[in-house]
Amino acid sequence: MDQFLITGSSRIAGEVTISGAKNAALPLLAAMILAETPTTLHNVPSLQDVTTLIKLIGGMGIRIQKQDDTVTCDTKNIDNFYAPYDLVKTMRASILVLGPLLARFGEAEVSLPGGCAIGSRPVDQHLKAFEAMGAEISVENGYVKAHAPKGGKLIGCNFSFDMVTVGGTENVIMAAALAKGTTVLGNCALEPEVVDLADMLVAMGAKISGIGTATMIIEGVERLYGCEYSVVPDRIETGSYLAGALMTRGDVLAKNTSALLLIPVLEKFEAMGAMITTGEDWIRAQMTERPNPVDIRTQPHPGFPTDMQAQLMAISCLADGTSTFIENIFENRFMHVPELNRLGASIKIDGHTAVVRGVECFTAAPVMATDLRASMSLVMAAAAAEGESLIDRIYHIDRGYEDVENKLRALGVNIERINSND
Ligand code: EPZ
Repeated sequence: MDQFLITGSSRIAGEVTISGAKNAALPLLAAMILAETPTTLHNVPSLQDVTTLIKLIGGMGIRIQKQDDTVTCDTKNIDNFYAPYDLVKTMRASILVLGPLLARFGEAEVSLPGGCAIGSRPVDQHLKAFEAMGAEISVENGYVKAHAPKGGKLIGCNFSFDMVTVGGTENVIMAAALAKGTTVLGNCALEPEVVDLADMLVAMGAKISGIGTATMIIEGVERLYGCEYSVVPDRIETGSYLAGALMTRGDVLAKNTSALLLIPVLEKFEAMGAMITTGEDWIRAQMTERPNPVDIRTQPHPGFPTDMQAQLMAISCLADGTSTFIENIFENRFMHVPELNRLGASIKIDGHTAVVRGVECFTAAPVMATDLRASMSLVMAAAAAEGESLIDRIYHIDRGYEDVENKLRALGVNIERINSND
Protein backbone atom coordinates (compact mmCIF):
# COMPACT_ATOMS: atom_id res chain seq x y z
CA MET A 1 0.00 0.00 0.00
CA ASP A 2 1.27 3.47 -0.87
CA GLN A 3 2.48 5.80 1.86
CA PHE A 4 3.11 9.54 2.15
CA LEU A 5 6.40 10.80 3.60
CA ILE A 6 5.76 14.32 4.88
CA THR A 7 8.53 16.50 6.23
CA GLY A 8 7.45 19.41 8.40
CA SER A 9 7.03 21.84 9.58
CA SER A 10 5.60 23.85 6.70
CA ARG A 11 3.56 27.01 6.54
CA ILE A 12 0.63 26.08 4.32
CA ALA A 13 0.23 29.00 1.93
CA GLY A 14 -0.59 29.54 -1.72
CA GLU A 15 -3.37 28.92 -4.21
CA VAL A 16 -5.38 25.75 -4.81
CA THR A 17 -7.97 25.08 -7.52
CA ILE A 18 -10.90 23.11 -6.17
CA SER A 19 -12.25 20.15 -8.15
CA GLY A 20 -15.81 19.00 -8.68
CA ALA A 21 -17.43 17.45 -5.62
CA LYS A 22 -16.94 13.68 -5.23
CA ASN A 23 -20.25 13.47 -3.37
CA ALA A 24 -22.07 15.19 -6.22
CA ALA A 25 -20.26 13.48 -9.11
CA LEU A 26 -21.25 10.00 -7.85
CA PRO A 27 -25.05 10.54 -7.79
CA LEU A 28 -24.85 12.57 -11.03
CA LEU A 29 -23.11 9.64 -12.75
CA ALA A 30 -25.82 7.30 -11.46
CA ALA A 31 -28.50 9.69 -12.75
CA MET A 32 -27.05 9.38 -16.28
CA ILE A 33 -28.62 5.87 -16.33
CA LEU A 34 -32.05 7.54 -16.44
CA ALA A 35 -31.43 9.37 -19.75
CA GLU A 36 -32.67 7.92 -23.07
CA THR A 37 -30.23 10.12 -25.03
CA PRO A 38 -26.55 10.89 -24.38
CA THR A 39 -25.51 12.98 -21.36
CA THR A 40 -22.33 15.02 -20.84
CA LEU A 41 -21.03 15.85 -17.36
CA HIS A 42 -18.21 18.39 -16.82
CA ASN A 43 -15.96 19.15 -13.81
CA VAL A 44 -15.87 15.47 -12.83
CA PRO A 45 -12.90 14.86 -10.50
CA SER A 46 -10.34 12.14 -11.30
CA LEU A 47 -10.78 9.96 -8.21
CA GLN A 48 -10.73 6.27 -7.46
CA ASP A 49 -14.42 6.34 -6.49
CA VAL A 50 -15.37 7.94 -9.82
CA THR A 51 -13.33 5.35 -11.74
CA THR A 52 -15.04 2.56 -9.82
CA LEU A 53 -18.56 3.86 -10.54
CA ILE A 54 -17.78 4.40 -14.22
CA LYS A 55 -16.52 0.80 -14.40
CA LEU A 56 -19.67 -0.43 -12.67
CA ILE A 57 -22.00 1.48 -15.04
CA GLY A 58 -19.94 0.38 -18.05
CA GLY A 59 -20.38 -3.22 -16.89
CA MET A 60 -24.09 -2.87 -17.65
CA GLY A 61 -23.35 -2.41 -21.34
CA ILE A 62 -23.74 1.36 -21.08
CA ARG A 63 -21.22 3.34 -23.13
CA ILE A 64 -19.61 5.66 -20.55
CA GLN A 65 -16.20 7.26 -20.72
CA LYS A 66 -14.16 9.98 -19.04
CA GLN A 67 -11.90 12.34 -20.97
CA ASP A 68 -10.08 14.75 -18.61
CA ASP A 69 -12.86 16.18 -16.44
CA THR A 70 -15.72 15.31 -18.82
CA VAL A 71 -17.83 12.15 -18.75
CA THR A 72 -20.08 11.18 -21.65
CA CYS A 73 -22.73 8.48 -21.32
CA ASP A 74 -25.04 6.72 -23.79
CA THR A 75 -27.42 4.17 -22.28
CA LYS A 76 -28.94 2.78 -25.48
CA ASN A 77 -26.95 -0.49 -25.41
CA ILE A 78 -27.59 -1.38 -21.75
CA ASP A 79 -27.81 -5.17 -21.49
CA ASN A 80 -27.92 -5.92 -17.75
CA PHE A 81 -29.00 -4.32 -14.48
CA TYR A 82 -26.39 -5.87 -12.20
CA ALA A 83 -23.94 -4.19 -9.76
CA PRO A 84 -21.42 -6.80 -8.54
CA TYR A 85 -20.09 -7.07 -4.99
CA ASP A 86 -16.45 -6.86 -6.02
CA LEU A 87 -17.03 -3.28 -7.19
CA VAL A 88 -19.73 -2.21 -4.72
CA LYS A 89 -17.62 -3.31 -1.72
CA THR A 90 -14.92 -0.79 -2.71
CA MET A 91 -17.35 2.08 -3.25
CA ARG A 92 -20.55 1.93 -1.22
CA ALA A 93 -22.20 4.82 -3.08
CA SER A 94 -22.71 2.27 -5.89
CA ILE A 95 -26.08 1.66 -4.21
CA LEU A 96 -27.14 4.86 -6.00
CA VAL A 97 -27.59 2.92 -9.27
CA LEU A 98 -30.50 1.03 -7.69
CA GLY A 99 -33.05 3.84 -7.96
CA PRO A 100 -32.31 4.71 -11.60
CA LEU A 101 -32.27 1.05 -12.76
CA LEU A 102 -35.52 0.29 -10.95
CA ALA A 103 -37.24 3.42 -12.24
CA ARG A 104 -36.23 3.12 -15.88
CA PHE A 105 -35.95 -0.64 -16.46
CA GLY A 106 -38.16 -2.01 -13.69
CA GLU A 107 -35.48 -4.29 -12.26
CA ALA A 108 -32.08 -4.24 -10.57
CA GLU A 109 -29.72 -6.57 -8.73
CA VAL A 110 -27.28 -4.53 -6.66
CA SER A 111 -24.89 -5.80 -4.02
CA LEU A 112 -25.53 -4.50 -0.54
CA PRO A 113 -22.70 -2.03 0.12
CA GLY A 114 -21.82 -3.34 3.55
CA GLY A 115 -20.37 -1.13 6.23
CA CYS A 116 -17.18 0.84 6.24
CA ALA A 117 -14.70 2.12 8.79
CA ILE A 118 -16.94 4.94 10.04
CA GLY A 119 -20.09 2.93 10.56
CA SER A 120 -22.51 0.19 9.52
CA ARG A 121 -23.97 2.48 6.84
CA PRO A 122 -27.30 0.63 6.35
CA VAL A 123 -29.55 1.37 3.36
CA ASP A 124 -32.86 0.42 4.98
CA GLN A 125 -34.37 3.84 4.22
CA HIS A 126 -33.60 3.49 0.52
CA LEU A 127 -35.35 0.08 0.38
CA LYS A 128 -38.29 1.21 2.54
CA ALA A 129 -38.98 4.07 0.13
CA PHE A 130 -38.79 1.84 -2.95
CA GLU A 131 -41.25 -0.60 -1.33
CA ALA A 132 -43.56 2.34 -0.60
CA MET A 133 -43.41 3.00 -4.38
CA GLY A 134 -44.60 -0.54 -5.07
CA ALA A 135 -41.26 -2.23 -5.66
CA GLU A 136 -40.79 -5.89 -4.67
CA ILE A 137 -37.50 -6.02 -2.77
CA SER A 138 -35.67 -9.12 -1.55
CA VAL A 139 -32.18 -9.43 -0.09
CA GLU A 140 -30.50 -12.70 -1.06
CA ASN A 141 -26.85 -13.69 -0.71
CA GLY A 142 -25.84 -10.10 -0.01
CA TYR A 143 -27.65 -8.69 -3.04
CA VAL A 144 -30.70 -6.47 -3.22
CA LYS A 145 -33.04 -7.86 -5.88
CA ALA A 146 -35.67 -5.34 -6.85
CA HIS A 147 -38.56 -5.35 -9.28
CA ALA A 148 -41.06 -2.65 -10.12
CA PRO A 149 -44.71 -3.65 -9.66
CA LYS A 150 -46.54 -5.43 -12.50
CA GLY A 151 -46.59 -3.14 -15.50
CA GLY A 152 -43.04 -2.11 -14.86
CA LYS A 153 -43.40 1.37 -13.36
CA LEU A 154 -42.85 2.52 -9.79
CA ILE A 155 -45.82 4.36 -8.31
CA GLY A 156 -45.56 7.84 -6.81
CA CYS A 157 -46.38 8.01 -3.08
CA ASN A 158 -46.07 10.09 0.08
CA PHE A 159 -42.94 9.07 2.01
CA SER A 160 -40.88 10.59 4.83
CA PHE A 161 -37.44 9.33 5.84
CA ASP A 162 -37.05 8.16 9.46
CA MET A 163 -33.76 10.08 9.60
CA VAL A 164 -32.05 12.51 7.25
CA THR A 165 -30.11 10.49 4.68
CA VAL A 166 -28.15 12.02 1.80
CA GLY A 167 -27.91 8.83 -0.25
CA GLY A 168 -31.48 7.85 0.55
CA THR A 169 -32.79 11.21 -0.64
CA GLU A 170 -30.70 10.98 -3.83
CA ASN A 171 -31.73 7.40 -4.64
CA VAL A 172 -35.42 8.12 -4.17
CA ILE A 173 -35.66 11.37 -6.14
CA MET A 174 -33.98 9.60 -9.06
CA ALA A 175 -36.53 6.77 -8.82
CA ALA A 176 -39.51 9.11 -8.34
CA ALA A 177 -38.55 11.14 -11.42
CA LEU A 178 -39.80 8.30 -13.67
CA ALA A 179 -42.55 6.92 -11.42
CA LYS A 180 -46.21 6.93 -12.39
CA GLY A 181 -47.83 9.81 -10.48
CA THR A 182 -46.49 12.21 -7.90
CA THR A 183 -44.17 11.54 -4.94
CA VAL A 184 -44.16 13.83 -1.91
CA LEU A 185 -40.85 13.18 -0.15
CA GLY A 186 -40.44 14.41 3.45
CA ASN A 187 -37.43 14.83 5.76
CA CYS A 188 -35.10 15.17 2.74
CA ALA A 189 -31.40 15.90 3.07
CA LEU A 190 -30.51 19.51 2.17
CA GLU A 191 -26.84 19.01 1.26
CA PRO A 192 -25.61 21.03 -1.77
CA GLU A 193 -24.84 17.74 -3.55
CA VAL A 194 -28.52 16.74 -3.25
CA VAL A 195 -29.52 20.10 -4.75
CA ASP A 196 -26.99 19.58 -7.56
CA LEU A 197 -28.55 16.20 -8.39
CA ALA A 198 -32.10 17.57 -8.36
CA ASP A 199 -31.02 20.45 -10.62
CA MET A 200 -29.51 18.03 -13.13
CA LEU A 201 -32.65 15.84 -13.07
CA VAL A 202 -34.69 18.95 -13.91
CA ALA A 203 -32.28 19.67 -16.77
CA MET A 204 -33.03 16.10 -17.97
CA GLY A 205 -36.78 16.85 -17.96
CA ALA A 206 -37.76 15.87 -14.42
CA LYS A 207 -40.50 17.81 -12.65
CA ILE A 208 -39.28 18.53 -9.10
CA SER A 209 -40.38 21.32 -6.75
CA GLY A 210 -39.10 22.16 -3.27
CA ILE A 211 -35.45 21.62 -4.28
CA GLY A 212 -33.23 22.60 -1.34
CA THR A 213 -36.06 22.16 1.17
CA ALA A 214 -36.97 19.26 3.44
CA THR A 215 -40.04 18.42 1.32
CA MET A 216 -39.63 17.73 -2.38
CA ILE A 217 -42.55 17.04 -4.73
CA ILE A 218 -41.58 14.93 -7.74
CA GLU A 219 -44.14 14.58 -10.54
CA GLY A 220 -43.15 11.46 -12.50
CA VAL A 221 -42.61 11.83 -16.27
CA GLU A 222 -42.54 9.25 -19.07
CA ARG A 223 -38.95 9.78 -20.15
CA LEU A 224 -35.79 11.66 -19.21
CA TYR A 225 -33.26 12.89 -21.75
CA GLY A 226 -29.56 13.61 -21.78
CA CYS A 227 -28.25 17.07 -20.93
CA GLU A 228 -24.94 18.89 -20.50
CA TYR A 229 -24.19 19.63 -16.85
CA SER A 230 -21.31 20.57 -14.55
CA VAL A 231 -20.54 19.18 -11.09
CA VAL A 232 -20.76 21.60 -8.15
CA PRO A 233 -17.38 22.45 -6.50
CA ASP A 234 -16.24 20.23 -3.62
CA ARG A 235 -17.01 22.02 -0.34
CA ILE A 236 -15.16 19.40 1.71
CA GLU A 237 -12.01 19.60 -0.40
CA THR A 238 -12.27 23.40 -0.05
CA GLY A 239 -12.56 23.21 3.75
CA SER A 240 -9.76 20.65 3.98
CA TYR A 241 -7.20 22.89 2.26
CA LEU A 242 -8.32 26.04 4.10
CA ALA A 243 -7.92 24.10 7.36
CA GLY A 244 -4.20 23.75 6.54
CA ALA A 245 -3.83 27.54 6.77
CA LEU A 246 -5.40 27.59 10.23
CA MET A 247 -3.01 24.88 11.48
CA THR A 248 0.21 26.58 10.30
CA ARG A 249 -0.47 30.34 10.55
CA GLY A 250 -0.76 30.13 6.77
CA ASP A 251 -2.62 31.82 3.95
CA VAL A 252 -4.61 29.72 1.45
CA LEU A 253 -6.63 30.96 -1.51
CA ALA A 254 -9.12 28.33 -2.75
CA LYS A 255 -10.35 29.03 -6.31
CA ASN A 256 -13.28 27.58 -8.33
CA THR A 257 -15.40 27.22 -5.21
CA SER A 258 -18.11 29.11 -3.36
CA ALA A 259 -18.44 30.30 0.23
CA LEU A 260 -22.18 29.54 0.05
CA LEU A 261 -21.34 25.82 0.05
CA LEU A 262 -19.63 25.79 3.44
CA ILE A 263 -20.98 28.65 5.56
CA PRO A 264 -21.03 26.63 8.85
CA VAL A 265 -17.37 25.69 8.31
CA LEU A 266 -16.26 29.26 7.54
CA GLU A 267 -18.07 30.47 10.68
CA LYS A 268 -16.03 28.03 12.77
CA PHE A 269 -12.81 29.06 10.99
CA GLU A 270 -13.54 32.70 11.96
CA ALA A 271 -14.37 31.67 15.54
CA MET A 272 -10.92 30.00 15.67
CA GLY A 273 -9.32 33.30 14.66
CA ALA A 274 -8.94 33.05 10.88
CA MET A 275 -9.52 36.04 8.62
CA ILE A 276 -11.88 34.78 5.89
CA THR A 277 -12.38 36.80 2.72
CA THR A 278 -14.53 35.62 -0.18
CA GLY A 279 -15.41 36.45 -3.77
CA GLU A 280 -17.83 35.00 -6.28
CA ASP A 281 -15.70 31.90 -6.91
CA TRP A 282 -12.95 32.00 -4.29
CA ILE A 283 -12.30 31.89 -0.53
CA ARG A 284 -9.16 33.01 1.30
CA ALA A 285 -8.18 31.94 4.82
CA GLN A 286 -5.39 33.80 6.62
CA MET A 287 -4.15 32.89 10.09
CA THR A 288 -1.59 34.81 12.12
CA GLU A 289 -2.16 33.53 15.66
CA ARG A 290 -2.56 30.24 17.53
CA PRO A 291 -6.14 28.97 16.94
CA ASN A 292 -8.86 29.59 19.50
CA PRO A 293 -10.61 26.48 20.89
CA VAL A 294 -13.98 25.57 19.38
CA ASP A 295 -17.07 23.45 20.12
CA ILE A 296 -18.47 21.42 17.22
CA ARG A 297 -21.63 19.30 16.88
CA THR A 298 -21.96 17.57 13.51
CA GLN A 299 -25.43 17.86 11.96
CA PRO A 300 -27.15 17.34 8.61
CA HIS A 301 -26.86 20.39 6.32
CA PRO A 302 -27.10 23.32 6.99
CA GLY A 303 -25.49 22.26 10.28
CA PHE A 304 -21.77 21.57 10.65
CA PRO A 305 -20.80 18.76 8.18
CA THR A 306 -19.52 15.49 9.61
CA ASP A 307 -17.07 15.32 6.68
CA MET A 308 -15.19 18.31 8.16
CA GLN A 309 -15.09 17.03 11.75
CA ALA A 310 -11.63 15.45 11.53
CA GLN A 311 -10.10 18.50 9.85
CA LEU A 312 -11.45 20.93 12.48
CA MET A 313 -10.29 18.56 15.21
CA ALA A 314 -6.75 18.64 13.80
CA ILE A 315 -6.77 22.45 14.00
CA SER A 316 -8.16 22.39 17.55
CA CYS A 317 -5.26 20.12 18.64
CA LEU A 318 -3.07 23.25 18.44
CA ALA A 319 -5.61 25.63 20.04
CA ASP A 320 -4.99 27.77 23.10
CA GLY A 321 -7.57 25.93 25.23
CA THR A 322 -9.96 22.95 25.24
CA SER A 323 -12.36 22.07 22.39
CA THR A 324 -15.22 19.57 22.21
CA PHE A 325 -16.52 17.57 19.24
CA ILE A 326 -19.84 15.72 19.25
CA GLU A 327 -20.28 13.36 16.28
CA ASN A 328 -24.01 12.92 15.70
CA ILE A 329 -24.06 11.36 12.23
CA PHE A 330 -21.85 8.27 12.28
CA GLU A 331 -21.22 5.80 15.10
CA ASN A 332 -17.48 5.43 14.63
CA ARG A 333 -15.97 8.59 13.22
CA PHE A 334 -13.18 9.23 15.74
CA MET A 335 -10.57 6.84 14.30
CA HIS A 336 -8.27 9.78 13.58
CA VAL A 337 -8.07 10.47 17.35
CA PRO A 338 -5.44 7.83 18.26
CA GLU A 339 -3.46 8.82 15.15
CA LEU A 340 -3.56 12.54 16.06
CA ASN A 341 -2.49 11.59 19.59
CA ARG A 342 0.51 9.78 18.09
CA LEU A 343 1.42 13.14 16.51
CA GLY A 344 1.43 14.70 19.98
CA ALA A 345 -2.20 15.77 20.39
CA SER A 346 -4.09 15.36 23.66
CA ILE A 347 -7.57 14.06 22.86
CA LYS A 348 -9.89 11.97 25.00
CA ILE A 349 -13.00 10.18 23.67
CA ASP A 350 -16.15 9.71 25.74
CA GLY A 351 -18.78 7.98 23.57
CA HIS A 352 -19.78 10.37 20.77
CA THR A 353 -17.78 13.21 22.33
CA ALA A 354 -14.09 13.99 21.90
CA VAL A 355 -12.41 16.48 24.22
CA VAL A 356 -9.30 18.12 22.76
CA ARG A 357 -6.83 19.84 25.09
CA GLY A 358 -4.71 22.13 22.89
CA VAL A 359 -0.93 21.63 22.75
CA GLU A 360 1.78 23.95 21.42
CA CYS A 361 2.77 21.82 18.43
CA PHE A 362 2.58 18.43 16.73
CA THR A 363 5.59 16.12 16.72
CA ALA A 364 6.37 13.89 13.74
CA ALA A 365 5.45 10.19 13.95
CA PRO A 366 4.43 7.28 11.72
CA VAL A 367 0.59 7.16 11.50
CA MET A 368 -2.10 5.28 9.62
CA ALA A 369 -4.96 6.72 7.57
CA THR A 370 -8.26 5.13 8.56
CA ASP A 371 -10.89 6.78 6.38
CA LEU A 372 -11.09 9.41 3.68
CA ARG A 373 -11.53 12.62 5.65
CA ALA A 374 -9.43 11.48 8.63
CA SER A 375 -6.53 10.94 6.20
CA MET A 376 -6.48 14.59 5.20
CA SER A 377 -6.47 15.72 8.83
CA LEU A 378 -3.37 13.56 9.39
CA VAL A 379 -1.67 14.98 6.28
CA MET A 380 -2.20 18.54 7.50
CA ALA A 381 -1.08 17.65 11.03
CA ALA A 382 2.06 15.96 9.67
CA ALA A 383 2.81 19.05 7.59
CA ALA A 384 2.54 21.14 10.76
CA ALA A 385 4.73 18.73 12.76
CA GLU A 386 8.52 19.20 13.05
CA GLY A 387 10.28 16.25 11.34
CA GLU A 388 9.40 13.32 9.10
CA SER A 389 6.01 11.58 9.35
CA LEU A 390 5.13 8.47 7.36
CA ILE A 391 1.39 8.07 6.66
CA ASP A 392 0.27 4.55 5.79
CA ARG A 393 -2.84 3.39 3.82
CA ILE A 394 -3.17 6.59 1.84
CA TYR A 395 -5.43 4.85 -0.69
CA HIS A 396 -8.16 6.42 1.41
CA ILE A 397 -7.02 9.86 0.24
CA ASP A 398 -6.87 8.82 -3.41
CA ARG A 399 -10.59 8.02 -3.20
CA GLY A 400 -11.59 11.61 -2.47
CA TYR A 401 -8.87 14.18 -3.14
CA GLU A 402 -7.91 14.78 -6.78
CA ASP A 403 -4.22 15.37 -7.59
CA VAL A 404 -3.56 15.67 -3.87
CA GLU A 405 0.27 15.67 -3.90
CA ASN A 406 0.55 18.46 -6.47
CA LYS A 407 -2.09 20.56 -4.73
CA LEU A 408 -0.32 20.13 -1.37
CA ARG A 409 3.13 20.86 -2.86
CA ALA A 410 1.76 24.08 -4.40
CA LEU A 411 0.71 25.02 -0.85
CA GLY A 412 4.21 24.46 0.50
CA VAL A 413 3.90 20.94 1.88
CA ASN A 414 7.02 18.76 1.57
CA ILE A 415 5.35 15.50 0.53
CA GLU A 416 6.56 12.39 -1.26
CA ARG A 417 4.50 9.33 -2.27
CA ILE A 418 6.28 6.04 -1.53
CA ASN A 419 4.90 3.33 -3.80
CA SER A 420 4.25 0.02 -2.06
CA ASN A 421 6.39 -1.87 -4.59
CA ASP A 422 9.39 0.35 -3.88
C1 EPZ B 1 -23.12 10.73 2.31
O1 EPZ B 1 -23.07 9.40 2.78
C2 EPZ B 1 -21.68 11.10 1.94
N1 EPZ B 1 -21.21 10.20 0.89
C3 EPZ B 1 -20.79 10.99 3.17
O2 EPZ B 1 -19.48 11.41 2.79
C4 EPZ B 1 -21.32 11.93 4.25
O3 EPZ B 1 -20.53 11.81 5.41
C5 EPZ B 1 -22.79 11.57 4.56
O4 EPZ B 1 -23.57 11.63 3.34
C6 EPZ B 1 -23.41 12.52 5.57
O5 EPZ B 1 -23.35 13.82 5.09
C7 EPZ B 1 -21.60 10.42 -0.39
O6 EPZ B 1 -22.36 11.34 -0.68
C8 EPZ B 1 -21.05 9.48 -1.44
P1 EPZ B 1 -26.38 9.22 5.00
P2 EPZ B 1 -24.46 8.58 2.99
O7 EPZ B 1 -27.25 8.26 4.27
O8 EPZ B 1 -25.44 9.00 1.98
C9 EPZ B 1 -27.84 6.46 8.59
C10 EPZ B 1 -17.15 11.22 2.56
O9 EPZ B 1 -16.21 11.23 3.35
N2 EPZ B 1 -28.66 5.77 7.57
O10 EPZ B 1 -26.75 10.66 5.01
O11 EPZ B 1 -24.12 7.15 3.09
C11 EPZ B 1 -26.35 6.25 8.35
O12 EPZ B 1 -25.91 5.07 8.96
C12 EPZ B 1 -18.41 10.45 2.88
O13 EPZ B 1 -17.15 11.84 1.46
C13 EPZ B 1 -29.51 4.74 7.97
O14 EPZ B 1 -29.57 4.39 9.16
O15 EPZ B 1 -24.89 9.11 4.42
C14 EPZ B 1 -25.74 7.47 9.01
O16 EPZ B 1 -25.62 7.24 10.39
C15 EPZ B 1 -18.32 9.75 4.23
N3 EPZ B 1 -30.25 4.11 7.03
C16 EPZ B 1 -26.78 8.56 8.76
O17 EPZ B 1 -28.01 7.87 8.45
C17 EPZ B 1 -30.21 4.46 5.71
O18 EPZ B 1 -30.94 3.86 4.89
C18 EPZ B 1 -26.46 9.50 7.61
O19 EPZ B 1 -26.17 8.68 6.49
C19 EPZ B 1 -29.35 5.52 5.33
C20 EPZ B 1 -28.59 6.16 6.28
